Amino acid sequence: MEFKELLGTKMTSGHTAEEVLAIAMKMQQSMALYESGIQEITTKLEILQREAQCKHIHNPIETIKSRVKSIFSIIEKLNRKGYEISMDSVVKNLNDVAGVRVICPYIDDIYVVAERIRRQDDLKVLVEKDYIKNPKPNGYRSYHMVVEVPVFLSDRKQPVRVEIQLRTIAMDFWASLEHQIRYKMEDFVPASIADNLHHCADTISQMDKEMQEIYKEVRALSSEEE
Ligand code: GTP
Ligand code: MG
Repeated sequence: MEFKELLGTKMTSGHTAEEVLAIAMKMQQSMALYESGIQEITTKLEILQREAQCKHIHNPIETIKSRVKSIFSIIEKLNRKGYEISMDSVVKNLNDVAGVRVICPYIDDIYVVAERIRRQDDLKVLVEKDYIKNPKPNGYRSYHMVVEVPVFLSDRKQPVRVEIQLRTIAMDFWASLEHQIRYKMEDFVPASIADNLHHCADTISQMDKEMQEIYKEVRALSSEEE
């Protein structure tokens, strides 16, 4: 869908296209807050990476990616879920305007990073969902956290919500391609393709477990040598 098309659709909130456009322009001004929230979280993760490098210990973070949800996606989601289209409604109802994705080498690293995030006392953890222990019905695996991070402005301290997705390189590979495929098929994935995707997710999960075991053996051997 394009923005023009979205404006053409009847808004569940009853707003006209002109009203939605005006709200969208106002929303754009608030996006800097979410950028700042992402910056705060990214800095925390980079500090953990640097610490591991300095100490020459295993770095549990392979890559950090982030994005702010586009105004188009924000309005589309509010409309789809039947929420009010306003900035107050975004703050109240959406957890994923600011998104940070942490890609880890091994499954255990995900839990290590989640614990390090949990222990930072300026962060408030609002939601945690373990789709690794409890994969989604389509096979999706990742660890999700929604945290609130304080952003210090000239005149106030503003808590900002950031969704953090933690996953292995293998889980990220699957989720990226599954997302592309679902997008291409406009959310209507035929059963045979869904089955194949599910099978791939299970294969990948098995491989993650084997790589984890290999790494444990490697660690045990190298600590024997020390
Ligand atoms: P949303 O309304 O989609 O945000 O769902 P939710 O609030 O129940 O959160 P959930 O933890 O289920 O999903 C949040 C985010 O995780 C999504 O926006 C995606 O980025 C990612 N995600 C969840 N399920 C899938 C999936 O099946 N495939 C892929 N590729 N990504 C997923
Ligand atoms: Mg989402």
